[in-house]
This record gives sequence, structure tokens and C-alpha cells, in this order.
Amino acid sequence: MVVITLTLVSLAVGMLYAVFIWNYDHWRKRGVPGPKPKLFCGNYPHMFTMKRHAIYDLNDIYRQYKNKYDAVGIFGSRAPQLLVVNPELARRVFVSNFKNFHDNEISKNIDEKSDFIFANNPFTLTGEKWKNRRADVTPGLTMGRIKTVYPVTNKVCHQLSEWVEKQIRLGSPEGIDAKHMSLCFTSEMVTDCVLGLSAESFSDKPTPIMSKIKDLFNQPWTIVFFFVLTSTFPSLSHLIKVRFIPLQVERFFVDLMGSAVKARRAQLAGEKQFERSDFLDYILQLGQKRNLDNRQLLAYSMTFLLDGFETTATVLAHMLLNLGRNARAQELLRQEILSHLENGIINFEKLNDLPYLDACLQETIRLFPPGFMSNKLCTESIEIPNKDGPNFVVEKGTTVVVPHYCFMVDEDFFPDPQSFQPERFMEPDAAKTFREKGVFMGFGDGPRVWIGMRFATAQIKAAIVELISKFIVKINPKTRQDNEFDPVQFLITLRGGIWLDLEKL
Ligand code: HEM
Repeated sequence: MVVITLTLVSLAVGMLYAVFIWNYDHWRKRGVPGPKPKLFCGNYPHMFTMKRHAIYDLNDIYRQYKNKYDAVGIFGSRAPQLLVVNPELARRVFVSNFKNFHDNEISKNIDEKSDFIFANNPFTLTGEKWKNRRADVTPGLTMGRIKTVYPVTNKVCHQLSEWVEKQIRLGSPEGIDAKHMSLCFTSEMVTDCVLGLSAESFSDKPTPIMSKIKDLFNQPWTIVFFFVLTSTFPSLSHLIKVRFIPLQVERFFVDLMGSAVKARRAQLAGEKQFERSDFLDYILQLGQKRNLDNRQLLAYSMTFLLDGFETTATVLAHMLLNLGRNARAQELLRQEILSHLENGIINFEKLNDLPYLDACLQETIRLFPPGFMSNKLCTESIEIPNKDGPNFVVEKGTTVVVPHYCFMVDEDFFPDPQSFQPERFMEPDAAKTFREKGVFMGFGDGPRVWIGMRFATAQIKAAIVELISKFIVKINPKTRQDNEFDPVQFLITLRGGIWLDLEKL
């Protein structure tokens, strides 16, 4: 009996082992070099323990192979992935060979039945559907429309500095949680600019909007489990779809959207003069043109709402971190801001034309990029050269990983890469030049380039102008001193959080 049991167990273990390793020769068969994968976790050794951010695992591989090849074959658990280690090839993937790498890998895991809202975001849409949706959404984010909501931005900036003054009076020894403060700012801004409603984020009794946004990003374990499962058994991704937007969050925003639409229609019917050409106004016009119901209207507006909260708050918080750590840069920025301030604000055109402010923002995105890597899908097979290795064909369906962060902290492109040096972006067209070399794509590039860039940068710059013109930013000792990323957060975040001591100027 014991012998039979042992034999069966060994057989089962042996079979499982065979299943796990059988496609580890995928890249060798295709003549693509690369590091040896480990059992279960492939080339992401911290996949299960999550003790280290995945981008550092990719950075180790990048540094090992970048001088020898353009791309190497790796495995996410058992799933083969092509890792791009040459920025010129990265740019081909995003720009010149866009038609071969048209879609984002995530599109495989989402459908309308499992996640109606995320499935309707341009980021997950594919083919013609993506093209049409992008064309629909883009005119909603013109400079003119962002300028229209600039008074709202300034109102929220004022609320932000009043809130900071209150925190200074309360005097917590831990200082101010920069991410929380930034999320209060962006949730108030975005809700007002997009829906014309207040989230009351800075009050003692905020509406549930803030907590629903936090719910949205506080679910990494289920999502990580899903990704581990589908990369271990790739064919499962055809059967199981993931829900990124929890049902209760979806329901909450559907209702909120319904109320916002109702209120706006009542305003339009009541006051003939009511005019606010904001995002809601744009979406309502689009809704009429396309005959959309409330749920579909919500799917469109969620692009403006959800994509903006967390990404923008993350960049704002890390920009304050960098300025707090660099007193000289902070002072230079303050001088630039104060020389253009009129009655406490900077006019909209000037806000977008302050070189040092812009350089500080770009340098923050380089060091702490929300878009730290992109997983693209090969949509049309293509042959590519591979420096010291033979040419090879990237087959349709292959996942192509572009690790932007690795290029952005490579000393060959950015000397002393971990230090904050806004001067890197002070040369005319510096950001464009870096982008064209493929080494700075924190905003993406090509036809899928980040759609909300002007909206997000205007908000971040306005908040920085408000804070730097009124407060001195210092770092509370609770904040770590290096740039290590939190391994379990969706977006790049300094491990342990950012804690600020703000002093009135
Ligand atoms: C500082 C804040 C933000 C950062 C750093 C950021 C970054 C990015 C990046 C790196 C991409 C991928 C681009 C690519 O695949 O080439 C992207 C896509 C996208 N972003 Fe953002 N984003 C930010 C804010 C926003 C805001 C405020 C909105 C909407 C109002 C937005 C809407 C989108 C959409 C819809 C896409 C998908 C575009 C497509 O696939 O066609 N983003 N973003």
C-alpha cells in the first residue's frame, strides 16, 4: 500500500514537473537567447514572495543583456515573454511598427461581461473598437476644455492649502501623508471637472467617492493571484476573466453618473444661460450623437474619472518628495513661480510654459514612472534583428515586455540616474529627444500615447504652484532615503510612503 501511494505521488509530482518545464525550451527553439527560468516563477524570482518589485527583476536581466542583444526571451512563470532590452526596438514597438504591436496584453484578460467599465477603456480595447473609442474620447481632453475648468482647479488648489494649514496646526509628528493629500486633491479636482460634483475630500466628512477610489486600488492580492494563475497556465486566460473594477465600485459610480447627468439636464432645462463646456458637457453631447444610455455614458466618463485619480496623485506626491529632498531645486522652482504669480495664481498659458516646473515634473516621471513597463501583444508576426544573435520572428500572440524604467535609470542615458536633476530636461526639446531615442516613454508613445497628459500635467502643476508658493516642503524622518519601490502596489510608490513636514512660508 505504502509503495503504491509513494509511486502515485512520485508520478503526480513528476507529471506536474513535466508540465511546468515542458515549454521552457520555447525561446531556445526559436533562436532567442535569454536567462534560464526558475521552476514556478520563471524569470520573476519574487513573483510569489513579493518582497521585491518585479521591475527590479527585469532590470537585472536588462543590465546583463543590454549590450549584446535587442531582445531576450524570458518567462512569467510558464508564459513566454519577449523582453526588449534596446530602446530603439522599444520605439519600433510603440511607433514605427505599431501595427505589429497594436494591443495591450491585458485585453486578453478582460471582457464586457466580467468588467464592463474597464473593458470599455481605450487601454483595454483592441483593433477598430480601440480606434473609434480613442477618436471619441480624445476631443474631450483638448487644451480649450482643460482651460475652461482652470477656475475649478484654482478653487481646489485653495482648498488644498487651507487643508495643509489645518494639518500644520494639528501638528502630527509623522507629518502629512503625501499620497493621501494628493488623492484628496485629484479626487476633488476630477469629480468636479468631470461630473460637476464635489467629493468633499478636504472636509471632515468626505463623500464615499474617496473611499471607493481607494477600494479600487486596494485589491492587489486577488489580481496578483489571477496573474500568477494565468501565467502558470496561459490557456486559462481564455476561460477566466478578471474584474479590475469591483462590482460595488461599478454600481456606486453608475449611480453617481446617473445623478450627475440628471442634475446637469435639470440645470440646462432650468437656466437657459447655463454653460460649462466641461467633460460632462462633452460626454452628454457624445451620448446624444451615439444614442448612449446611462451605463454606456458611464463607461465613457470613467476613462476621464478613474484613469486620472491615482496616476496623477502618484506623480504629485513623488514630485513633492523630490522637491522636499532637494532644497536647491525647490528654491529655484519657487523663484520661477513667484516671478509669475498674480493675485495668488498663474495664468493658464504661463502655467504650461514654465521651464523649470516642467523639468521637475519630467524628472519625477523619470524616477517614479506610473507607466514603468508595458506589456504589448504582437498582433502581426514580424522578423527582427537581434544584435549579436540571429534574426528571429516575433510570432502573432507573443507578449512583448517593454521595461521603460530600465532605460530611464540606465547611466548610459541618464548619468547618476537615481539623483533628481531637473536640469536634464532644461535643454530645448529634451523630453522629445529622449522620447525619440526610446529612453523616456513614461507617457507612452505613438498612436496609443497617454491620452490625459495635458489634463494631468495642468493639475499637477497647479497644485505644485499653490504649495511651493505658500509652504516650504521638508521630508519627515519616517520617509526612507533611497528610491526603493513598494513591491505590492499597482503603481510605482516609494516603499513605506512619503511623509512631509510642511512649513508656512
Ligand atoms: C500623471 C498622470 C498619468 C500618467 C503618468 C499616465 C501614463 C500613461 C501611460 C504610460 C499610458 C500607456 C501609453 C501607451 O501604451 O503607449 C497611458 C495610457 C492611457 N492614459 Fe494615462 N496617464 C496619466 C493620467 C491620465 C489621465 C488623467 C487620463 C484621463 C483623463 C488618462 C487616460 C489614459 C488612457 C485612456 C490611456 C489608454 C490610451 C490608449 O491605449 O489609447 N491618463 N497613460
